[in-house]
Parts: sequence; C-alpha cells; structure tokens
Amino acid sequence: MQTKILVVYFSHSSNTRELAKQVQELTGGDLFEIVPEKQYPAEYDDVVKQAKEELKSDFKPKLQTKLKNLAAYDMVFIGSPNWWGTVAGPVRTFLADYDLEGKSVAPFITHEGSGMGSSARDISKRCPGATILDGLAVRGSSVKSARSDVSQWLRKLNLLK
Ligand SMILES: Cc1cc2nc3c(=O)[nH]c(=O)nc-3n(C[C@H](O)[C@H](O)[C@H](O)COP(=O)(O)O)c2cc1C
Repeated sequence: MQTKILVVYFSHSSNTRELAKQVQELTGGDLFEIVPEKQYPAEYDDVVKQAKEELKSDFKPKLQTKLKNLAAYDMVFIGSPNWWGTVAGPVRTFLADYDLEGKSVAPFITHEGSGMGSSARDISKRCPGATILDGLAVRGSSVKSARSDVSQWLRKLNLLK
C-alpha cells in the first residue's frame, strides 16, 4: 500500500515554506501550513524577543488553520524554523493539538547556524507513540539550492517519489 504523506510546516520569513514545497514536490505528499491567529512581528528584533518569552513559558499560540483529515496519513513531515534552538511556538501548538501516535514523523528545520538544535528531541517528546525518523537541517539562506540535499535525505528515508 502506498504511504500517504503530509508535509506540515510553519514559516515566518518564507525559508521553511520554500523547503516544505520541495519536500512536497519530491514526495508527492499534501501540504499543510500552520498559521497562527496572531501574526508575529515582521521586525527581526521584535520576533526574536517575543519568541524567547514564549519559549520560556512554553506558550502555544492559537492557530488559524485547521487540519481535518490527519487520520488519512501514515507519514508526517514537520517543518519549522529553528527559533532559539528548537521548533517555533506554532509548531508546539500543532503538536499539542494533533495526535500523531502510530505515525512516522520526520523533522525538517531551517536555521542560520545552529542546525536542528534540540528540535528532533523536542518534537519526539511532544509526539508520544510516533516513530521519529532522521531529520534534515538546511541553512535558511541556502534553501533555494538545497534540492539535491533534500532528494538525498528523502531517498535514504525511502520516501522519494
Ligand atoms: C525568533 C527567531 C529565533 C531564531 N533563533 C535561531 C537559533 O537559535 N539558531 C539559528 O541557527 N537560527 C535562528 N534563527 C534564524 C532562523 O532559524 C532562520 O532564519 C530560518 O531559516 C527562518 O525560517 P523562516 O523563513 O521559515 O521563518 C532565528 C530566527 C528567529 C526569527
């Protein structure tokens, strides 16, 4: 039976969105964007400060987008920018709102130097009963030229279309 693939992502400044589209195209999966009800500030220093506060209190912002048919998928990719060493707040909300038990989950993270940080571990903690597969970290400024890395990673996971 064919694996049904969902590519879930949050992106603030579009790098992770670009990477998510590549994962979607190369796997033939469906795409779902996590959009918070309240937008984060565009100003870099402001979002950095807000994200730090939210991480400290494990704040989970309310989401605007709702996923209806999670049961249809066996494989869920989770994409996030690295914010302070881990996934962004809206991804915390997604993982709290949706039960991924029994599914395979693979993280993909964009960053500006610290790679995945603790994202894979943190996703794993928030997905009890899911099988966490090897993730991919891509520098935000290099996402446009990351396609061959993405293909290689997906081939290893046996999920390349
Ligand atoms: C709030 C905030 C915190 C960040 N923290 C880190 C970090 O700890 N390590 C890192 O390498 N990059 C960090 N970055 C850079 C982003 O991870 C990087 O620019 C990413 O590609 C942005 O993805 P996006 O365009 O999908 O939002 C941070 C950026 C923001 C806005």
